[in-house]
Amino acid sequence: MKNIYSNIFKVNNKNLSKAIKYLKKKELVALPTETVYGLAGNAYSSKAVKKIYFLKKRPYKNPLIVHYYNLEQLKKDAKLNNNFFKLYKKFCPGPITFVLKKKKNSLLSKIVTANLNTIAVRFPKDKTLKKILKSFNFPLAIPSANKSSQISPVSAEDVAQEFHRSIKIILNGGLCDIGIESTVVDLTSKPKILRPGLIGPADISKALNRKVTISEVSKIISAPGMLKKHYSPGIPMKLDQTKAKINEAFIVFGKKYKKGKNIFNLSYKSNLLEAAKNLYRTLRIIKNKNYKMICVSSIPKTGIGLAINDRLNRAAN
Ligand code: TXA
Ligand code: MG
Repeated sequence: MKNIYSNIFKVNNKNLSKAIKYLKKKELVALPTETVYGLAGNAYSSKAVKKIYFLKKRPYKNPLIVHYYNLEQLKKDAKLNNNFFKLYKKFCPGPITFVLKKKKNSLLSKIVTANLNTIAVRFPKDKTLKKILKSFNFPLAIPSANKSSQISPVSAEDVAQEFHRSIKIILNGGLCDIGIESTVVDLTSKPKILRPGLIGPADISKALNRKVTISEVSKIISAPGMLKKHYSPGIPMKLDQTKAKINEAFIVFGKKYKKGKNIFNLSYKSNLLEAAKNLYRTLRIIKNKNYKMICVSSIPKTGIGLAINDRLNRAAN
Protein backbone atom coordinates (compact mmCIF):
# COMPACT_ATOMS: atom_id res chain seq x y z
CA MET A 1 0.00 0.00 0.00
CA LYS A 2 1.32 3.45 -0.87
CA ASN A 3 1.81 5.96 1.88
CA ILE A 4 -0.50 8.95 1.87
CA TYR A 5 2.41 11.00 3.20
CA SER A 6 5.20 11.43 0.64
CA ASN A 7 7.76 12.25 3.35
CA ILE A 8 7.39 8.89 5.14
CA PHE A 9 10.06 6.43 4.01
CA LYS A 10 10.37 2.74 4.80
CA VAL A 11 13.61 1.60 6.37
CA ASN A 12 15.92 0.15 3.69
CA ASN A 13 19.57 0.74 2.73
CA LYS A 14 18.75 3.43 0.22
CA ASN A 15 16.61 5.45 2.61
CA LEU A 16 19.05 4.96 5.49
CA SER A 17 21.85 6.40 3.33
CA LYS A 18 19.63 9.31 2.44
CA ALA A 19 18.82 9.99 6.12
CA ILE A 20 22.52 9.79 7.05
CA LYS A 21 23.41 12.21 4.25
CA TYR A 22 20.78 14.64 5.51
CA LEU A 23 22.05 14.50 9.08
CA LYS A 24 25.64 15.08 7.90
CA LYS A 25 24.39 18.18 6.04
CA LYS A 26 22.95 19.48 9.38
CA GLU A 27 19.39 18.78 8.25
CA LEU A 28 16.81 17.05 10.48
CA VAL A 29 15.36 13.54 10.21
CA ALA A 30 12.45 12.07 12.19
CA LEU A 31 13.07 8.49 13.23
CA PRO A 32 11.83 5.68 15.47
CA THR A 33 13.31 4.87 18.86
CA GLU A 34 12.18 2.07 21.20
CA THR A 35 10.31 4.67 23.29
CA VAL A 36 8.71 7.29 21.01
CA TYR A 37 9.55 8.84 17.61
CA GLY A 38 12.22 11.53 17.73
CA LEU A 39 13.34 14.53 15.71
CA ALA A 40 17.09 14.14 15.19
CA GLY A 41 19.86 16.62 14.40
CA ASN A 42 23.66 16.86 14.80
CA ALA A 43 24.22 17.74 18.48
CA TYR A 44 27.58 19.39 17.66
CA SER A 45 25.95 21.82 15.24
CA SER A 46 24.08 24.88 16.54
CA LYS A 47 22.61 25.27 13.08
CA ALA A 48 20.97 21.83 13.23
CA VAL A 49 19.90 22.21 16.87
CA LYS A 50 18.28 25.60 16.22
CA LYS A 51 16.14 23.94 13.56
CA ILE A 52 14.88 21.44 16.16
CA TYR A 53 13.82 24.19 18.60
CA PHE A 54 12.24 26.17 15.77
CA LEU A 55 10.18 23.29 14.34
CA LYS A 56 9.02 22.08 17.76
CA LYS A 57 8.36 25.65 18.97
CA ARG A 58 10.33 24.57 22.02
CA PRO A 59 11.53 27.17 24.52
CA TYR A 60 15.33 27.47 24.48
CA LYS A 61 15.43 26.93 28.25
CA ASN A 62 14.30 23.31 27.80
CA PRO A 63 17.44 21.22 27.02
CA LEU A 64 17.52 18.22 24.67
CA ILE A 65 18.66 14.62 25.21
CA VAL A 66 21.85 13.73 23.35
CA HIS A 67 21.91 10.20 21.90
CA TYR A 68 25.21 8.31 21.62
CA TYR A 69 26.35 5.13 19.93
CA ASN A 70 28.94 4.15 22.56
CA LEU A 71 30.89 5.15 25.65
CA GLU A 72 33.96 6.30 23.70
CA GLN A 73 31.84 8.96 22.07
CA LEU A 74 30.22 10.01 25.36
CA LYS A 75 33.54 10.35 27.21
CA LYS A 76 34.40 13.37 25.07
CA ASP A 77 31.38 15.29 26.32
CA ALA A 78 30.44 14.14 29.83
CA LYS A 79 32.04 13.31 33.18
CA LEU A 80 31.18 9.71 34.04
CA ASN A 81 30.78 8.46 37.61
CA ASN A 82 30.28 5.13 39.42
CA ASN A 83 26.49 5.35 39.57
CA PHE A 84 26.47 5.96 35.85
CA PHE A 85 28.61 2.88 35.15
CA LYS A 86 26.35 0.68 37.29
CA LEU A 87 23.20 1.78 35.49
CA TYR A 88 24.86 1.76 32.08
CA LYS A 89 25.96 -1.85 32.56
CA LYS A 90 22.50 -2.92 33.63
CA PHE A 91 20.19 -1.00 31.29
CA CYS A 92 22.05 0.20 28.17
CA PRO A 93 21.31 0.34 25.36
CA GLY A 94 17.75 1.03 26.48
CA PRO A 95 15.05 3.44 27.62
CA ILE A 96 17.03 5.37 30.23
CA THR A 97 18.51 8.89 30.12
CA PHE A 98 21.28 10.07 32.45
CA VAL A 99 21.87 13.65 33.54
CA LEU A 100 25.64 14.09 33.98
CA LYS A 101 28.11 16.94 34.34
CA LYS A 102 29.25 18.30 31.01
CA LYS A 103 32.95 18.50 30.15
CA LYS A 104 34.29 22.02 29.63
CA ASN A 105 35.91 21.12 26.31
CA SER A 106 32.87 19.28 24.96
CA LEU A 107 32.00 19.99 21.31
CA LEU A 108 28.26 20.04 22.00
CA SER A 109 26.30 23.02 20.79
CA LYS A 110 25.58 25.23 23.83
CA ILE A 111 21.93 25.36 22.82
CA VAL A 112 21.46 21.59 23.23
CA THR A 113 22.06 21.87 26.95
CA ALA A 114 20.30 25.24 27.36
CA ASN A 115 23.66 26.62 28.49
CA LEU A 116 23.63 24.41 31.60
CA ASN A 117 26.75 22.65 32.85
CA THR A 118 24.86 19.35 32.79
CA ILE A 119 23.88 17.14 29.86
CA ALA A 120 21.17 14.49 29.41
CA VAL A 121 22.45 11.43 27.52
CA ARG A 122 20.94 8.24 26.22
CA PHE A 123 22.03 5.06 24.38
CA PRO A 124 19.02 3.99 22.32
CA LYS A 125 18.34 0.36 21.52
CA ASP A 126 16.44 0.75 18.24
CA LYS A 127 18.35 -1.03 15.43
CA THR A 128 17.78 1.60 12.76
CA LEU A 129 18.84 4.43 15.03
CA LYS A 130 21.95 2.50 16.12
CA LYS A 131 22.98 2.01 12.49
CA ILE A 132 22.58 5.74 11.90
CA LEU A 133 24.53 6.73 15.03
CA LYS A 134 27.33 4.35 14.08
CA SER A 135 27.79 5.98 10.69
CA PHE A 136 29.26 9.31 11.87
CA ASN A 137 31.36 10.71 14.71
CA PHE A 138 28.85 13.15 16.17
CA PRO A 139 25.97 12.35 18.56
CA LEU A 140 22.35 13.24 17.81
CA ALA A 141 20.10 15.60 19.76
CA ILE A 142 16.70 13.86 19.67
CA PRO A 143 13.63 15.22 21.44
CA SER A 144 10.27 13.56 20.89
CA ALA A 145 8.92 14.47 17.43
CA ASN A 146 5.92 16.53 18.54
CA LYS A 147 5.20 20.24 18.87
CA SER A 148 6.20 21.47 22.35
CA SER A 149 3.66 20.47 25.06
CA GLN A 150 1.69 18.20 22.68
CA ILE A 151 1.21 14.41 22.61
CA SER A 152 4.35 12.40 21.79
CA PRO A 153 4.31 10.37 18.53
CA VAL A 154 4.47 6.59 18.49
CA SER A 155 4.19 6.05 14.71
CA ALA A 156 5.54 7.70 11.54
CA GLU A 157 2.00 8.87 10.73
CA ASP A 158 1.78 10.64 14.12
CA VAL A 159 4.94 12.56 13.22
CA ALA A 160 3.53 13.53 9.82
CA GLN A 161 0.36 14.75 11.55
CA GLU A 162 2.42 16.97 13.87
CA PHE A 163 4.73 18.51 11.28
CA HIS A 164 3.10 17.93 7.86
CA ARG A 165 5.73 18.53 5.18
CA SER A 166 8.17 20.58 7.24
CA ILE A 167 10.26 17.45 7.92
CA LYS A 168 11.66 16.07 4.67
CA ILE A 169 12.42 12.54 5.90
CA ILE A 170 10.40 10.51 8.40
CA LEU A 171 11.78 6.97 8.69
CA ASN A 172 9.01 4.47 9.27
CA GLY A 173 9.91 1.83 11.86
CA GLY A 174 6.31 0.91 12.67
CA LEU A 175 4.80 1.32 16.11
CA CYS A 176 7.24 2.02 18.98
CA ASP A 177 7.81 -0.95 21.32
CA ILE A 178 7.44 0.90 24.62
CA GLY A 179 5.32 3.91 23.65
CA ILE A 180 6.36 6.14 26.55
CA GLU A 181 9.53 8.24 26.91
CA SER A 182 12.73 7.10 28.63
CA THR A 183 13.25 7.33 32.38
CA VAL A 184 15.34 10.43 33.19
CA VAL A 185 17.67 9.96 36.15
CA ASP A 186 19.82 12.76 37.53
CA LEU A 187 23.27 11.45 38.54
CA THR A 188 25.01 14.79 39.13
CA SER A 189 24.60 14.39 42.91
CA LYS A 190 22.37 12.09 45.00
CA PRO A 191 20.57 10.05 42.29
CA LYS A 192 16.95 10.99 41.66
CA ILE A 193 14.39 10.26 38.99
CA LEU A 194 13.19 13.36 37.13
CA ARG A 195 10.86 11.53 34.73
CA PRO A 196 9.56 7.98 35.33
CA GLY A 197 9.55 5.44 32.49
CA LEU A 198 9.68 1.70 31.84
CA ILE A 199 12.71 1.43 34.12
CA GLY A 200 11.27 2.38 37.51
CA PRO A 201 12.51 3.43 40.95
CA ALA A 202 12.64 -0.19 42.15
CA ASP A 203 14.89 -1.24 39.22
CA ILE A 204 17.21 1.73 39.70
CA SER A 205 17.34 1.34 43.50
CA LYS A 206 18.27 -2.31 43.07
CA ALA A 207 21.02 -1.57 40.56
CA LEU A 208 22.53 1.20 42.74
CA ASN A 209 21.92 -0.62 46.01
CA ARG A 210 20.30 2.48 47.54
CA LYS A 211 16.81 3.97 47.62
CA VAL A 212 16.15 6.20 44.63
CA THR A 213 12.81 8.00 44.37
CA ILE A 214 10.90 10.04 41.83
CA SER A 215 11.23 13.77 42.48
CA GLU A 216 7.92 15.40 43.37
CA VAL A 217 6.38 17.26 40.44
CA SER A 218 6.64 20.53 42.37
CA LYS A 219 10.41 20.08 42.59
CA ILE A 220 10.80 18.77 39.06
CA ILE A 221 9.13 21.71 37.41
CA SER A 222 11.74 24.02 38.85
CA ALA A 223 14.29 21.90 36.96
CA PRO A 224 14.93 22.84 33.33
CA GLY A 225 12.10 22.12 31.01
CA MET A 226 10.16 19.75 33.22
CA LEU A 227 7.03 21.60 32.27
CA LYS A 228 3.98 20.83 34.31
CA LYS A 229 1.71 21.01 31.26
CA HIS A 230 2.81 18.42 28.74
CA TYR A 231 1.61 15.58 26.54
CA SER A 232 -1.56 17.62 26.15
CA PRO A 233 -4.47 16.54 23.94
CA GLY A 234 -5.85 20.10 24.24
CA ILE A 235 -9.06 18.77 25.81
CA PRO A 236 -9.99 19.02 29.53
CA MET A 237 -9.26 15.77 31.37
CA LYS A 238 -10.57 14.31 34.65
CA LEU A 239 -8.55 11.54 36.30
CA ASP A 240 -9.60 8.70 38.63
CA GLN A 241 -13.18 8.60 37.31
CA THR A 242 -15.53 5.63 37.66
CA LYS A 243 -17.89 6.63 34.86
CA ALA A 244 -18.28 9.07 31.97
CA LYS A 245 -21.16 10.64 30.05
CA ILE A 246 -21.93 9.25 26.61
CA ASN A 247 -20.51 12.37 24.91
CA GLU A 248 -17.25 12.16 26.87
CA ALA A 249 -14.29 9.95 25.95
CA PHE A 250 -13.63 7.41 28.72
CA ILE A 251 -10.12 5.95 28.96
CA VAL A 252 -10.21 2.77 31.05
CA PHE A 253 -8.01 -0.13 32.14
CA GLY A 254 -9.10 -3.74 32.63
CA LYS A 255 -12.05 -5.94 31.73
CA LYS A 256 -14.49 -4.65 34.32
CA TYR A 257 -15.39 -1.83 31.89
CA LYS A 258 -18.05 -2.43 29.24
CA LYS A 259 -17.28 -1.91 25.56
CA GLY A 260 -18.76 1.19 23.93
CA LYS A 261 -18.21 3.80 21.25
CA ASN A 262 -16.78 6.29 23.73
CA ILE A 263 -14.83 3.69 25.80
CA PHE A 264 -11.11 3.40 25.06
CA ASN A 265 -9.54 0.48 26.92
CA LEU A 266 -5.76 0.82 27.35
CA SER A 267 -5.54 -2.86 28.24
CA TYR A 268 -8.46 -5.22 28.49
CA LYS A 269 -6.07 -7.79 30.00
CA SER A 270 -4.95 -5.31 32.70
CA ASN A 271 -1.41 -5.39 31.32
CA LEU A 272 0.46 -2.18 32.16
CA LEU A 273 3.03 -2.61 29.37
CA GLU A 274 0.22 -2.84 26.85
CA ALA A 275 -1.47 0.19 28.43
CA ALA A 276 1.73 2.26 28.12
CA LYS A 277 2.03 1.29 24.48
CA ASN A 278 -1.56 2.36 23.82
CA LEU A 279 -1.56 5.59 25.86
CA TYR A 280 -0.41 8.25 23.35
CA ARG A 281 -2.15 6.52 20.42
CA THR A 282 -5.40 6.61 22.36
CA LEU A 283 -5.01 10.27 23.34
CA ARG A 284 -4.33 11.13 19.69
CA ILE A 285 -7.36 9.18 18.44
CA ILE A 286 -9.59 10.93 20.98
CA LYS A 287 -8.17 14.32 20.03
CA ASN A 288 -8.92 13.63 16.34
CA LYS A 289 -12.51 12.63 17.19
CA ASN A 290 -13.13 16.09 18.69
CA TYR A 291 -14.39 15.01 22.12
CA LYS A 292 -14.88 17.95 24.53
CA MET A 293 -13.97 16.05 27.72
CA ILE A 294 -11.79 13.04 28.60
CA CYS A 295 -12.44 10.98 31.74
CA VAL A 296 -9.82 8.46 32.84
CA SER A 297 -10.35 5.54 35.22
CA SER A 298 -7.72 4.86 37.88
CA ILE A 299 -4.63 3.00 36.67
CA PRO A 300 -2.39 1.04 39.06
CA LYS A 301 0.62 3.03 40.26
CA THR A 302 3.09 0.18 40.04
CA GLY A 303 5.87 -0.55 37.50
CA ILE A 304 5.35 1.38 34.29
CA GLY A 305 1.97 2.43 35.76
CA LEU A 306 3.95 5.16 37.59
CA ALA A 307 5.01 6.57 34.23
CA ILE A 308 1.48 6.28 32.80
CA ASN A 309 0.08 8.20 35.78
CA ASP A 310 2.85 10.82 35.50
CA ARG A 311 1.99 11.48 31.83
CA LEU A 312 -1.76 11.53 32.53
CA ASN A 313 -1.28 14.03 35.36
CA ARG A 314 0.67 16.34 33.12
CA ALA A 315 -1.74 15.87 30.20
CA ALA A 316 -4.58 16.85 32.53
CA ASN A 317 -2.86 20.00 33.70
O1 TXA B 1 12.55 8.45 25.17
C1 TXA B 1 13.05 9.58 25.06
O2 TXA B 1 13.79 10.06 25.94
C2 TXA B 1 12.73 10.37 23.80
C3 TXA B 1 13.35 9.64 22.59
C4 TXA B 1 13.14 10.38 21.30
O3 TXA B 1 14.71 9.42 22.84
N1 TXA B 1 13.20 11.72 23.90
C5 TXA B 1 12.59 12.64 24.70
O4 TXA B 1 13.11 13.92 24.61
O5 TXA B 1 11.66 12.37 25.42
P1 TXA B 1 12.32 15.21 25.10
O6 TXA B 1 13.13 16.35 24.62
O7 TXA B 1 10.94 15.14 24.62
O8 TXA B 1 12.43 15.15 26.67
C6 TXA B 1 13.68 15.37 27.29
C7 TXA B 1 13.51 15.65 28.74
C8 TXA B 1 12.91 17.03 28.95
O9 TXA B 1 11.95 16.96 29.98
C9 TXA B 1 14.11 17.85 29.37
O10 TXA B 1 13.77 18.94 30.20
C10 TXA B 1 14.95 16.83 30.11
O11 TXA B 1 14.79 15.65 29.36
N2 TXA B 1 16.37 17.26 30.14
C11 TXA B 1 17.21 17.42 29.12
N3 TXA B 1 18.41 17.86 29.52
C12 TXA B 1 18.35 17.97 30.87
C13 TXA B 1 19.26 18.37 31.89
N4 TXA B 1 20.50 18.76 31.61
N5 TXA B 1 18.83 18.36 33.18
C14 TXA B 1 17.56 17.95 33.50
N6 TXA B 1 16.65 17.57 32.56
C15 TXA B 1 17.03 17.57 31.28
MG1 MG C 1 8.95 15.37 24.63
